[in-house]
Amino acid sequence: MEKDLVVLLKEKRVFKPSKELIENSNVKKWMNKQGIKTYNELLEKAKDIEWFWEEAAKETIEWKKPFDKVLEWENHYANWFTKAQYNIVFDALDKHKDKDKIAFIWEGEPEGEIEKISYKKLYKEVNKLANAMKTMGVKKGDRVGIYLPMIPALPISMLACAKLGAIHSIVFSGFSANAFRERVNDETAKWVVTCDGFYRRGKIIPLKKAADEALLETPSVEKCIVFKRTGEQVEWNEKRDLWWHEITEKESDECETEILDSNDTLFILYTSGTTGKPKGIIHDHGGYAVGTAITLKWVFDLKENDVWWCAADIGWITGHSYIVYAPLILGVTSVMYEGAPNFPEADRWWEIIDRHKISVLYTSPTAIRMFMHFGEEWIEKHDLSSLRLLGSVGEPINPEAWMWYYKYIGKENCQIMDTWWQTETGNHCITPLPITDLKPGSATKPFPGIQADVFNREGKPIVDAGGELVLLKPWPGMLKGIYKNPDKYQKTYWEMYPEVYLAGDVARVDSDGYFWVQGRDSDVLKVSGHRIGNSEIESALVSHPLVAEAAAIGKPHEIKGESITAFVILKKGTEISEELRKELREHVGKEIGKLARPDEILFVEALPKTRSGKIMRRVIKAKVLGKDTGNISTLSNPEAVEELLKAK
Ligand code: WT7
Repeated sequence: MEKDLVVLLKEKRVFKPSKELIENSNVKKWMNKQGIKTYNELLEKAKDIEWFWEEAAKETIEWKKPFDKVLEWENHYANWFTKAQYNIVFDALDKHKDKDKIAFIWEGEPEGEIEKISYKKLYKEVNKLANAMKTMGVKKGDRVGIYLPMIPALPISMLACAKLGAIHSIVFSGFSANAFRERVNDETAKWVVTCDGFYRRGKIIPLKKAADEALLETPSVEKCIVFKRTGEQVEWNEKRDLWWHEITEKESDECETEILDSNDTLFILYTSGTTGKPKGIIHDHGGYAVGTAITLKWVFDLKENDVWWCAADIGWITGHSYIVYAPLILGVTSVMYEGAPNFPEADRWWEIIDRHKISVLYTSPTAIRMFMHFGEEWIEKHDLSSLRLLGSVGEPINPEAWMWYYKYIGKENCQIMDTWWQTETGNHCITPLPITDLKPGSATKPFPGIQADVFNREGKPIVDAGGELVLLKPWPGMLKGIYKNPDKYQKTYWEMYPEVYLAGDVARVDSDGYFWVQGRDSDVLKVSGHRIGNSEIESALVSHPLVAEAAAIGKPHEIKGESITAFVILKKGTEISEELRKELREHVGKEIGKLARPDEILFVEALPKTRSGKIMRRVIKAKVLGKDTGNISTLSNPEAVEELLKAK
């Protein structure tokens, strides 16, 4: 009780940016140029989205050939900057080709392994690989599957694909062979890129082995490019596999960038939804470039001398947008780290910040809570005074974690940018700017040019009560559909409220217009910031020969945000055992990836269902958490609800 009160009190605190931060910020300088005096005036004026995003484009990128219209909006598909000729690589790479400035400071996990890659060097490396890919036949519109860890070969592969107009599709290196196979088959990629292995917590993770396993059943794949990272022995398929260093060795370090239409596809990135099958989210070149670059420039206020560390994985949208594309467009220096945060000890991150004098750090609530758990003594060993701004993304940040981050990492000198967005939105949507007053736990207000609200079931805006988070107008970074699945696109995002984008999050707006995102609605989990569909876990479980039915729910977890509990009905005659429990856990790990393994597996005889046979996850969750299950009399088997508590 007392604790709750403290939290409430803290939530009422407001943290104002310093005059100095405001006056020197990129956004304020732009406002001065435009004659815009206040934050509110900026938000109001940017409601003219066509005006605002045209200005944002001027601030960040350069077209090869200018556009006809700022926006064409039809059937929930946005074509921004129509008929413009463009390729994101012009801005991310080609325009910097003569610069000795460092693009990436990369640290491998083994201590002392540091590589600084200049813009000039990056340009050459990308061109060599692009030329090698071109020799292999990769061309505009082709899909290339990428399965790489946090090593420079990853951004190099992405940029090489983009340079040729090919579409990259990255699968997080922590995902399993099965997950990689499923995605490669969905996109029918002819080429994939991987590496021999990588370092994680002092061990080598044999990624090529997982790729080999995946490629046993991917009929579309012809060639697999393998980057040598660890140098350990790997199996070799003579017909299919090619060493990166061999195919690039003789290639020229100049390669022409394919001139595309601004609306051509840049990448596909799979994400979880309400069904067992991940959705291939599509993003384009031009709109995505403008959306990611302007948000990075304004939210994190990056300048010429900043050292930026977005400590996410490039395998997720955060890394695509804010490790690779936007920082390169802005020409800043970024840090990239291969390994675990607690290797060799719990202060690895603080050591990295100190060593490279990082000025802006962007991470997740899960990571912050983990560091809280490790204790402050690890931080005190290092000088973090280079930091000037902090960021958070991926899940709601609880006020305690916010305060800890503010006090121990930011030393009460750094504003915290709590950015709400999604794989689908491409860039930050609800986020503070350096001119925004902060409330711990709130992502504050929509970015200029974005219009957000919270609707009740009837589609009416509501204040100070939980409802569905919606976006009212298109924005340039928004998805351009779901790969090969237009029906799902319409159904998922545009059916509940016509002409309004449904985010799938529950949120509240307070009387100051501040947004408080509470979490996903019931069909998607967030485990350590990783988005996993409940039904993905359930499908993985029922693919085991001894499982008849399964239901997966999320339970609140102190560090991970949510943990996974799975209820399983076994096939008739199957005996319950600890081995079986372990086997099922590993089975999910093999199907999806270790991060999706249930923390708890409970065996039951029945699961509560509707009369039409749908498992009622919401009721299960309420029962398990000791909350009100609502009216269960319409269920086909209401007695199953009580039985949940007797699960073994
Ligand atoms: C979901 C999107 C966006 C990059 C990483 C995640 C949750 C994200 C916040 C935040 C509260 C947040 C939402 C959203 N989320 N940022 N600042 N506060 N919740 O991308 O995997 O597509 O997940 O993450 O639930 O819908 P993603």
